[in-house]
Amino acid sequence: ELICTKQDNPLVIGLGDGENFIASDIPAIIARTRRTYILNDGEMAVVKKDSITITNRKGELVTKKVFEVNWNAEAAEKGGFEHFMLKEIHEQPKAVRDTMSQRIAKDGKSIVMDELKWTADYLNNFNKIYIVACGTAYHAGLVGKFYIEKLARIPVEVDVASEFRYRDPIVDENTLLIVVSQSGETSDTLAALKESKRRGAKTLALTNVVGSSIAREADQVLYTWAGPEIAVASTKAYTTQLILFFMLSLYMSEIRGTQTKERIAELVGLLQKVPAQISETLSDVEPIKTFAKQYGFNEDVFYIGRSLDYDVALEGALKLKEVSYIHAEAYAAGELKHGTLALIVEGVPVIALATQKSVYEKTLSNIKEVKARDAVVIGIAAEGDDELEKYVDHVMKVPETDELLIPILTVVPLQLLAYYAAITRGCDVDKPRNLAKSVTVE
Ligand code: AGP
Repeated sequence: ELICTKQDNPLVIGLGDGENFIASDIPAIIARTRRTYILNDGEMAVVKKDSITITNRKGELVTKKVFEVNWNAEAAEKGGFEHFMLKEIHEQPKAVRDTMSQRIAKDGKSIVMDELKWTADYLNNFNKIYIVACGTAYHAGLVGKFYIEKLARIPVEVDVASEFRYRDPIVDENTLLIVVSQSGETSDTLAALKESKRRGAKTLALTNVVGSSIAREADQVLYTWAGPEIAVASTKAYTTQLILFFMLSLYMSEIRGTQTKERIAELVGLLQKVPAQISETLSDVEPIKTFAKQYGFNEDVFYIGRSLDYDVALEGALKLKEVSYIHAEAYAAGELKHGTLALIVEGVPVIALATQKSVYEKTLSNIKEVKARDAVVIGIAAEGDDELEKYVDHVMKVPETDELLIPILTVVPLQLLAYYAAITRGCDVDKPRNLAKSVTVE
């Protein structure tokens, strides 16, 4: 007889045949059953091999609906890849396709979000949107801010959940709070969500896990449908979150009339090319393996970029840190001369993202600044850019698209670089030291 109770952290009961299970997450039991009960805070279960009794805080019996998991054990296995991280990087074309599926109008010219059914009145009620998340999801939120402000023209503030929840933010019924979380169980993000609801905000969750605490707590949910992400380092969750933010922003812009129908149709058309463009980026990993071998033993790596390139640089640096343990920092390229340039000396690798046409010349001048200090610069550019290679030591190219969509492509070589750097250094890629997949404690 097993007795369990749930408060704040997730708890799942698996329903087997002549056997039952308790676990903190579905992948632990998926090989044995896809039928589960998901407990709520304050509930207690007495689990025997052929019976499960669930009660609430008052001791009253609770009747639960069986939650059927819609993915199988195979999705939680490595499927021929050496690590989950590499498998999940390669799953991205399919994952982003799944995120888009059912959300593009039949004529392919606009976005449909049946989950939301927002109106202009509903949106005009918000004077501010907050995006709150942690780690990689926070980095996706930075891109989300850019998309919403650029396309839907509503002011957005992005915050890390552990800061937001304790800083007495100005949140009321005119606030829309968007939380982003792959697992849907991150403790700080959940707390920020609960606190904002208490203050009257409307809430929307972008998450990957159906039935997760965040999905259940938020007023509305958009699922990324990326499939289970097992590696601690988040990869496909990030790209699918970007896709979802992009679609949400287009959806909002159509409702608010902030973009023309033609512009929306053009962007939806480009969006649908992204899965194939990710596949193209993944088709030749050899140069990235070579860079990883060449620079995998450096102690420090810098990432620079402007605008959306800076947001992606932050994610690239986090990936490298967490799996290869190389000290990596991302800087807004224009900030270098305010201090960090002092660290750029001969041989220091600098990964320079230069895909944003609107700030291209500015980025180029920052690249020249680091080159003048003899840094080794690896540039990331869009196909068709023949300028960058004149100023850097190596170039990695990604397919050309609108500068709003290119972050979904530029992050891919950065994920691969982090992965192969970790392999070069003999690190345990899927289980980096000191880290856990779901951070369900503060
Ligand atoms: C990503 O590589 C990290 N392991 C981590 O930053 C993660 O994104 C963060 O803990 C948030 O997790 P969540 O998306 O499940 O909320």
